[in-house]
Amino acid sequence: MTTIVILTGAGISAESGLGTFRDKDGVWMRHDLADLATPEGFARNPALVHEFYNARRAAAAAARPNAAHLALTQLQRGYAGRVVLITQNVDDLHTRAGTAGVIQMHGSLMRALCHGCGHRWPAPARMAPQDPCPACGAAQTRPDVVWFGEMPYRMEEIYRALAEADLFVAIGTSGTVYPAAGFVAEAAQAGAETLEINLAPSGAMFDRVLTGPAAQVVPDWVAGLLGEPPDSGA
Ligand code: APR
Repeated sequence: MTTIVILTGAGISAESGLGTFRDKDGVWMRHDLADLATPEGFARNPALVHEFYNARRAAAAAARPNAAHLALTQLQRGYAGRVVLITQNVDDLHTRAGTAGVIQMHGSLMRALCHGCGHRWPAPARMAPQDPCPACGAAQTRPDVVWFGEMPYRMEEIYRALAEADLFVAIGTSGTVYPAAGFVAEAAQAGAETLEINLAPSGAMFDRVLTGPAAQVVPDWVAGLLGEPPDSGA
C-alpha cells in the first residue's frame, strides 16, 4: 500500500483570505516575530501577544476551507493508500475541510495551553494574560502555538511517516523554517518521490514542481491521482 505524506504551509490558506508570513505583505513583513512568536516576547508583553493571536484566531474562525483543503480531504477518502497530512498552519481549515488525523506540528490557534500545569482546552475567542487556567487556576495561559525556539509537536510520528513515504508533497510553504524545511530531504533519503506545489518554486530540491495557486493546482493534481477527469473549471 502506498503512502502519501503531505506538508502544508500558509500558502494553502492564502486563498481562504489568511495571510502568509514571508510574501510581500506577509505577517513577518509587518510585525517583528521576536515580539510575537517567541517565549521571550510573550514574557515581555503577554497582552500584546494575546492580542496578536486573538486577531489571527478571529480571522481563522471567519475563514472557510478552500478548494485545496477540500481536495486533500477527497484524496484522503478516495485514495487506495494512506494519506498523512502534516501542517505548519495553526488555522483549523484542514480539520474543518474534513481531513482526518491532521498533524498540527506548530499547534493550533483554537487550543489554549496552561504554562503552569500543561492543561489544554478549546481556546475562547479572546484570551488575556489574567485568564485563569480551568484546571489549576494559575493565570499562565497562552495560545497552544509552537513559537520559535520551541519544539514542534508529534515529531516522532512525523519522522516515522517520512520514512514510510512513497510520495512527499509540500504545498504552499517557503521551506525556510526547520524542522519542516528538512522534511523533503528526509523523505527523499527514504526513497520517496517529492513534489512541490507552490505559486513559484521555493528553490528546495524536489523531483517535480507544479506552479500556480493551490486552490487551482491541488484539485487538478488530486483528480489526476484519483483517476478522475481534471476539473473542467466550469
Ligand atoms: N498557492 C500556493 N502557494 C502559495 C499561495 C497560493 N495561493 N500563496 C502563497 N504561496 C506560497 C508562497 O510562494 C510561499 O512559498 O506559500 C509560501 C508561504 O511561505 P511562508 O509565508 O514562509 O509560510 P510558511 O512556509 O507556512 O512558514 C512556515 O514559519 O513563521 C513560521 O510558524 C510559522 O508555520 C509558519 C512557518
